[in-house]
Amino acid sequence: IIVILDFGSQYSELIARRIRETQVYSEVISYRTTAEQLRQLNPKGIILSGGPSSVYDQGAPQCDPEIWQLGIPVLGVCYGMQLMVQQLGGEVERADRGEYGKAALVIDDPTDLLTNVDDGTTMWMSHGDSVTKLPDGFELLAHTDNTSCAAIAHHERKLYGVQFHPEVVHSLGGMPLIRNFVYHICQAEPTWTTAAFVEQSIREIRAKVGDKRVLLALSGGVDSSTLAFLMHRAIGDQLTCMFIDQGFMRKYEPERLVKLFEEQFHINVAYVNARERFLAAVDGITDPEEKRKRIGHEFIRVFEEESRRLGPFDYLAQGTLYPDVIESADTNVDPKTGERVAVKIKSHHNVGGLPKDLCFKLVEPLRKLFKDEVRKLGRSVGLPEEIVQRHPFPGPGLAIRILGEITEERLEILRDADLIVRQEINRRGIYHDFWQAFAVLLPVRSVGVMGDQRTYAYPIVLRLVSSEDGMTADWSRVPYDLLETISNRIVNEVPGVNRVVYDITSKPPGTIEWE
Ligand code: XMP
Repeated sequence: IIVILDFGSQYSELIARRIRETQVYSEVISYRTTAEQLRQLNPKGIILSGGPSSVYDQGAPQCDPEIWQLGIPVLGVCYGMQLMVQQLGGEVERADRGEYGKAALVIDDPTDLLTNVDDGTTMWMSHGDSVTKLPDGFELLAHTDNTSCAAIAHHERKLYGVQFHPEVVHSLGGMPLIRNFVYHICQAEPTWTTAAFVEQSIREIRAKVGDKRVLLALSGGVDSSTLAFLMHRAIGDQLTCMFIDQGFMRKYEPERLVKLFEEQFHINVAYVNARERFLAAVDGITDPEEKRKRIGHEFIRVFEEESRRLGPFDYLAQGTLYPDVIESADTNVDPKTGERVAVKIKSHHNVGGLPKDLCFKLVEPLRKLFKDEVRKLGRSVGLPEEIVQRHPFPGPGLAIRILGEITEERLEILRDADLIVRQEINRRGIYHDFWQAFAVLLPVRSVGVMGDQRTYAYPIVLRLVSSEDGMTADWSRVPYDLLETISNRIVNEVPGVNRVVYDITSKPPGTIEWE
């Protein structure tokens, strides 16, 4: 393991992902972790992340100064490097000019950390402070036009610092540098592989669950599907997969999911048809938040009833991923046993909380994984690409893509329009060009003409967006002929629609979904 002491950088997680790309396991831990705790963890290497503070700020986060004596290689990144310099007797000052964005790295010492890193390679900078005096024993490895100390080393003690961010994708020389640190300096072995993960998880699941029964709520996404697979391999029929069909999924999706699991993978799924209940729960509701709330509450009620009917269960298997764990660190832990408990179903179910008497113990075998690692795992156990690479789909599903009141008729219309959108982008092989691509139904009517008939029907909005992470997004500049085909097909094939419009709003100010 290589640990990352997190000083509050938005990139700490990304560093962990990059390390794992070298097939070495990596975790983000608090900067408060003491040298003694680190000694027990016995990592092959330590990385100090960047952070928003200045080292000379009052109350700036400090690491335990004993960590320099552990004899474990350390790489400080940005703030991490400045902290290293300051604690070891060098100097850091606010620079006349900060450096933000791409910079060309001029290499002064092409060995060690910078072996195989090209001279002049692009590295990404983001700092206002700079190192102005190196501590004793440190040497300069590289500089840039604006930053005299861009990379430094104490070769003997294996202490390294870089002012730039090797982990971001714009840093072209970033991965070679990270590999040098991981393999040559820390001498870590590439043992973090999918096969090793599966084997170890199965052992851990069996040890934890014993002969007890486990419930898993399948959603149709890659996380819960992969989880179902892994759990089933580990404990077979002690696992019950439940799929609640709230009626807001896309056309054919519920049937396909159940069929796939039962016929292809021989995993039984308890299919719960709750379509009418959910429709009744949102009957007449037009306010978006109220809709979400009611769907959430209904989900809890159905979940509760069905788990009683199918149970009793001792454990709930949950597809918690590593980013969720970092964000909710130390919350949701039973103070008596120290085990994580389900006070919250994952947000994709949009549920506020589970009632106390349904407090399952949790099994969370994916809690060490990033999303891309789950995809890799899912693929390796044979999940089809349509699940592995599925676009994000909100928990309340089509219910938040029908503005205003939800009726069976409107659901039917939207399902058909949505199917056409997917068919057309799949046919052109461009599904992965989009973060999401879907249809929205507006609860207004406009006039049109078809044949000699005047029509008065709903418009469909096309929402095709690109995004890195869903936090910001841009509308996709797609070819007109794609829009034309989709529009023609929807108007001709979907009764109740006589107009198609294209949403050309980015996020912000728009959101990706319409509700
Ligand atoms: P917005 O609409 O806020 O969406 O730009 C950002 C991303 O989140 C997805 N989304 C949801 N995902 N439950 C989810 O699991 C939800 O209730 C939900 N609402 C929005 C949305 O599809 C987009 O990818």
